[in-house]
Amino acid sequence: MEAKTDFLIFFVNGEKVIEKEPDPTCTLLHYLRSKLHLTGSKNVCGEGGCGACTVMISKYDDENNSILHYSVNACLTPVCSVHGLAVTTTEGIGSLRTRLHPVQEQIAKHHGSQCGFCTPGMVMSMYALLRNNTQPSMIEIEKYLEGRILIEIYLMIEIEIYLEGRIMIEKYLEGKIMIEKYLEGRIMLEIYLEGRIMIEIYLEGRTMIEKYLEGRILIQKYLEGRILIEIYLESRILKEKYLEGRILIQKYLEGRTMIEKYLEGRILIQKYLEGMILIQKYLKGRIRIELYLESRILKEKYLEGRILIHKYLEGRTMIEKYLEGNLCRCTGYRPILEGYRTFSKESCAMGDNCCKNQTENKLKDEKKENYSPPYDPTQEPIFPPDLKANYSAYNNKSLLFENNGVRWYRPVTLTELIELKHQYPHSKIIIGNTEVGIETRYKKMKYHVLIHTCNIRELNNITYTDDGIKIGSSVTLSQVEVVLQQAIHNSSDEICRVFKAVVEMLKWFAGKQIRNAACIGGNIMTASPISDLNPIFQACTAVLEVVSKGNSMRKMTLDGNFFQGYRQTIIQPTEVLLSLTIPYTNKNEYFEGYKQAIRKDDDIAIVNAGMRVVFEPESDVIKELHLSYGGMAPTTVMAKNTMQKLVGRKWENNLVPAACQYLEEDLPLDPGAPGGIVEYRKTLTTSFFFKFYLTVTQQLYNKGITQENTIPRSHLSAIETRELGPSKGSQVYELVGAAQKDDNPIGRPVVHSSAYQHATGEAVFVDDMLTLKGELFVSPVYSSRPHATLINVDTSAALQIPGVKGYICYKDVPGSNHIDISDEQLFAVEEVTCVGCLIGAVVATSAPIAREASRSIKIDYKDLPAILTIEDAIENNSYLSKSPVYHSGDVNKGFEECEQVLEGEVYMGAQEHFYLETQSSIAVPKERDEMDLFSAGQFPGGIQESVAKTLDIPFNKVKCVVKRLGGGFGGKEVQSIPTALMAAVAAKKYNLPMRCCLERDDDIVMTGTRHPITAKYKVGFSSEGRISSLDLNIYANCGNAPDVSYAIMGAILIKCDNAYKIPNFRVTGHLCKTNIRSNTAMRAAGSIQAMFIIETVLQHVIDQLGVEPTKVRELNFYKVGDRTHVNQIIKDCNIQSCWEECLNHSDYYNRKTQVHQFNRDNRWRKRGISIVPLKYGISFEVIQLNQAGALVNIYTDGSVLISHGGVEMGQGLHIKMIQVASASLGISSDRIHISESSTNIVPNAPPSAASVSSDLNGMAIKIACETLSKRLEPYKNEKGSSWNDWVKKAYEDRVSLSATGFYKAPDLGPDPATNSENKFMYYTYGAGCSEVEVDCLTGDHTVIRTDIVFDVGTSLNPAIDIGQIEGAFMMGYGLYMLENFKISPNGKVLTQGPGNYKIPAISNIPKQFNVSLLKGKPNDRAVYSSKAIGEPPLLLSVSVFLATKSAIMAARHETGRRGYFRLDSPATPDKIRMQCQDEFTKQFPVAEEGTYTPWFIKL
Ligand SMILES: Cc1cc2nc3c(=O)[nH]c(=O)nc-3n(C[C@H](O)[C@H](O)[C@H](O)COP(=O)(O)OP(=O)(O)OC[C@H]3O[C@@H](n4cnc5c(N)ncnc54)[C@H](O)[C@@H]3O)c2cc1C
Ligand code: FES
Ligand code: FES
Repeated sequence: MEAKTDFLIFFVNGEKVIEKEPDPTCTLLHYLRSKLHLTGSKNVCGEGGCGACTVMISKYDDENNSILHYSVNACLTPVCSVHGLAVTTTEGIGSLRTRLHPVQEQIAKHHGSQCGFCTPGMVMSMYALLRNNTQPSMIEIEKYLEGRILIEIYLMIEIEIYLEGRIMIEKYLEGKIMIEKYLEGRIMLEIYLEGRIMIEIYLEGRTMIEKYLEGRILIQKYLEGRILIEIYLESRILKEKYLEGRILIQKYLEGRTMIEKYLEGRILIQKYLEGMILIQKYLKGRIRIELYLESRILKEKYLEGRILIHKYLEGRTMIEKYLEGNLCRCTGYRPILEGYRTFSKESCAMGDNCCKNQTENKLKDEKKENYSPPYDPTQEPIFPPDLKANYSAYNNKSLLFENNGVRWYRPVTLTELIELKHQYPHSKIIIGNTEVGIETRYKKMKYHVLIHTCNIRELNNITYTDDGIKIGSSVTLSQVEVVLQQAIHNSSDEICRVFKAVVEMLKWFAGKQIRNAACIGGNIMTASPISDLNPIFQACTAVLEVVSKGNSMRKMTLDGNFFQGYRQTIIQPTEVLLSLTIPYTNKNEYFEGYKQAIRKDDDIAIVNAGMRVVFEPESDVIKELHLSYGGMAPTTVMAKNTMQKLVGRKWENNLVPAACQYLEEDLPLDPGAPGGIVEYRKTLTTSFFFKFYLTVTQQLYNKGITQENTIPRSHLSAIETRELGPSKGSQVYELVGAAQKDDNPIGRPVVHSSAYQHATGEAVFVDDMLTLKGELFVSPVYSSRPHATLINVDTSAALQIPGVKGYICYKDVPGSNHIDISDEQLFAVEEVTCVGCLIGAVVATSAPIAREASRSIKIDYKDLPAILTIEDAIENNSYLSKSPVYHSGDVNKGFEECEQVLEGEVYMGAQEHFYLETQSSIAVPKERDEMDLFSAGQFPGGIQESVAKTLDIPFNKVKCVVKRLGGGFGGKEVQSIPTALMAAVAAKKYNLPMRCCLERDDDIVMTGTRHPITAKYKVGFSSEGRISSLDLNIYANCGNAPDVSYAIMGAILIKCDNAYKIPNFRVTGHLCKTNIRSNTAMRAAGSIQAMFIIETVLQHVIDQLGVEPTKVRELNFYKVGDRTHVNQIIKDCNIQSCWEECLNHSDYYNRKTQVHQFNRDNRWRKRGISIVPLKYGISFEVIQLNQAGALVNIYTDGSVLISHGGVEMGQGLHIKMIQVASASLGISSDRIHISESSTNIVPNAPPSAASVSSDLNGMAIKIACETLSKRLEPYKNEKGSSWNDWVKKAYEDRVSLSATGFYKAPDLGPDPATNSENKFMYYTYGAGCSEVEVDCLTGDHTVIRTDIVFDVGTSLNPAIDIGQIEGAFMMGYGLYMLENFKISPNGKVLTQGPGNYKIPAISNIPKQFNVSLLKGKPNDRAVYSSKAIGEPPLLLSVSVFLATKSAIMAARHETGRRGYFRLDSPATPDKIRMQCQDEFTKQFPVAEEGTYTPWFIKL
């Protein structure tokens, strides 16, 4: 094929881009960020796993004369693939300079942005959804749920359930209401108890509720006897018109009416009267009404204040589905969903006037100019006319781009393609690049010829044949989903069983962006052993068509011979896969697909399967059986032996044990097989078969083929898929008092100060900064061995690469090569002590060149013995220091005198920070040895100090500026320093600006994690459960350097009492020194390990005694006046208040009864519920760090600039500080600005850590503001004068308008008066209750509900505080349930990025998540009576872990196992499944340690 063009042409945000000689290896993301400087789309993982780079692609569909819009991951999209297409980024849809797009506005306004790094990706996913569907509705949800609907209503909510044109509405007054609807046309309504009220409309006693739906009437009445409910009939009309010609009209009284018009002929009228709110919701005949009371109480207690309840419901929406591929590490997703729910049809018709939005009363006024009207698709940019008018020129011509030795062909005919494949057999066909992109990035694969087959018609066809549906190999998975859903909808159930299995599997296949790009042929041809579709295609013997030059098309079945080896098929390199035919099933044929992953959504399978059985006509005798498994061998495999042996047998109970035995023989797996968790994988193979057996048995019975139902009712729980549906929740907090001035923002839920910039992509992070003249890029070179002598570092090959400028190592360090703060070497000199140990760095003209070169450096090592685990360290006596001990009372005597003693051990694994923005720094050399650092670090002072010492210059020559961080979570406290130092050393050497922004995999390897710990305990207690004596020995894996391990061990030791008074207590810490990367601070560092240990001990006691857990916990609670084991006196104690409120809110005792009932009724699904208390001490462990400084400048125009020592990393610090300054100065917060944190403005500041930043910096700012207020005092008396006048007058009088504030936390340390020790400034308290359901056969879990009550004193900003609670809880949930950081026995870090490290995704949110701030408990020891919040709530996530353990215990009871069992964290599905212990697990005992080399080790 000859070259047809040299130009790549596409549109970005409406602008035409023409690129001569584009680079086929360049991704769209790199192009957008580097060439077009559109930095809104973020580079987080580069592997399609996080969604931060999401953009929308639009293309003209000439056949249907329509425009298609879909979201993709720009990091995997080759820029060459967008020829003739339009790309939209967040910058293209709205900006603060012009007008915000509603999608940007809503995420910001609903507090859906904290650090903001994920926000543009979230915006673009939602935007793409809206471009396809202007109001995603419950109809889509119904479609999605295959006709199943579950709607739950809760708290003051009315829900109408709707199914296949039928409506059922039930309402209940004076009681609780729950309506649930269930599967396939069946509706279940449940009503829910006492005090929960549903849907009220209310307006000073006058209420009108109008409802309507297909001729049925619902009337509700409520409120002090005055209720009017009107229901209206006649085919869904109620003075309202809505959607496609229907009008919704609502009218209200007393003359005030607000009418809003909505899109495309839809009209919404809302009314508003006397400051109260009427909310009505409407959706194709469904109505939801939410009401909000003032001064009435509704199962919520009302304490000296008002209560605001946010509610939230309605199923797993389309929105959630679209956002599955987007990760957020900060928010916990709830506010993002809440923001975007406003676009759904179920959202409140009041729009901005919705009661939910009233929390932001002041803010909305302040930001009024930024607010855009409701979503109006007619306002969207038009598709570039050029692309449509010249469709043929763009799409029907072959292309060839060539650059850097790589060719990109885009043939447009099959003949051309076949010819190319003939000419270049080892070329790569590319469609979505979701596989090839990973191969080139992580597996160092290089392809010189790439062939893009998107425009070949034969590969994109979909046809219905007599045998099934024939799908072209280039058809995307999203298209496959739609086509099969249509077929299912239009055909009988019997013939669509494989289609259903594919659609069901696609629900769990990657995220939306991947499915939009990836093609079905790519999945087959990749031949991955864990492909999700291949087991299905193999079990149904799908038919493939392949073509090649000279040979006519040949057909083959995807059977047991198709896969030839790891990632090899029988298709030849010169052949092209043309299509796949997915067959229909017949009435004697049954089919199911199964997948189990660590995280339910968007995760690769551990084991998956496709299973098909064909019976002799009208019988239960097996004619054919096809069992295909993934994850059990280097290829997808068929269980051939099992299949053959079971043919001819009847489908009856004794089939299962026989199948299990044959499957074991068919699917052998070495205990050390890649992937590990071998016995679990084996158990899954038989557990899946058991599920299949039950499903088919049930269907045979339903069809009357078998006469007797042999499945006990409780066993159906193995196969019933429960769509728990809605993620919903409430947030309850105290509104500010009526006396508080309008412009005093303290206590108001003001949005994050950068939220709008986050959403529009205008917020500048380090790597978004414009490159400076001459700027170069730095990429690290680090050790791949855990412990070794460095023999030789050969840089010659790297230095030959065009664009490489040089290499730096310890020889280039002018000053100290030792980082004092973490007590470790910067660059290794002779020895490396961990994988990831820094050796040097390459300097080059671009980041990709620097990365490529750093990987070309050849290093020779001489290996030394390595200690990797806690066990190794104990064995080798390898510790960082002597073991610190705390004790109180007499532990030994305590054991002697108590009634019972227990001993045990527990382990908690590592946790990767997974901040979305990786470690990043830019160093700019200046005159006279000055060096400016622009860093993403939590400790600018630490970076300043380290750079100065490394370059051998005084501190005053180094300036470290931090604008914002894309998440830190402790990981950027000291471990941001090496990145800054690499940049600084290179900048010094070459006297040029240097940028060092780590790639995700480098970041993970080079930085440490949360400390894994092992705790050994001995506990003495009474028969009631009162603990009298506890001896703890805690071992932490600290890694190769001290870092902040001493402080973290300190936190473990002093916080391991939690809320419990233990009179005789000894706790000893052991800091294990190992050859893994030094572990470091991570949100609630030490505290969460402490909580885990003490709650495990309590649970052990509870399990031993077999008593109600709450009683044992309550019995041991601290009370005012008690002394802790570190001799601090408990002064204000809110444990009991939080606990009781949480018991009450969660309805704990009733739900516990329901859980028991559920467990009695269900054999294979079990539930558990757990409630835990929390006491959390606030302050830095090192007393000197409890100080802060601030500078407040007033300018002559009246504007105010604040600087303080804290860093904004998403926690909302800056907005809280603005609120403090606003209240202190008595001016509106829109006059106040914070630009950045900088060491030359506020010196010697401690790191932003330990949750104390608001407390310390807030006080410093308050002090500075009070100084300024005092100075302005003389000018305030003049009548009618304003702030600006006072400032002007003061200036004219030569009064300084600049003041510093300094604060040190008082009374820390020993208190001789009481002979006590104040380790903490104060304590904060909380309680959390969670209910979890587990699938005992797979280990899958769902958090059904979480209730949290938290003590934040008087909240400075309830939206920020609730955001911190939800986000922290979800991070803790990840630690306990999902996140498994893996290292191989030779020290290799197996965790690389989101592909193999699973942080919580949107689907992991508790299905109901209620957060309530404790009311009426001001804290007199922090600014404006507030309390710290960033870390403590994380600890309450242990409630999920304990609830899971309780569910497992219920499963164990089924097989007679009672009492305590050990469960280590994280409780990933393998641990849950294997602890459930039944006949299936028994078949696969764990291989004896030492008899094999495991794939990964327990650190
Ligand atoms: C974040 C992420 C999540 C993922 N999740 C899952 C998951 O949950 N389950 C799962 O199974 N997979 C998953 N994958 C893998 C991947 O998405 C699939 O395998 C996908 O279907 C590949 O399609 P593609 O169009 O992107 O293939 P490409 O990367 O473009 O190509 C893949 C391979 O197929 C070959 N090929 C493509 N078409 C033809 C043809 N017509 N003839 C011959 N060879 C051809 C290519 O040459 C190449 O070798 C995931 C990948 C990523 C990046
Ligand atoms: S950066 Fe593209 S998905 Fe993570
Ligand atoms: S706000 Fe989502 S990652 Fe920080």
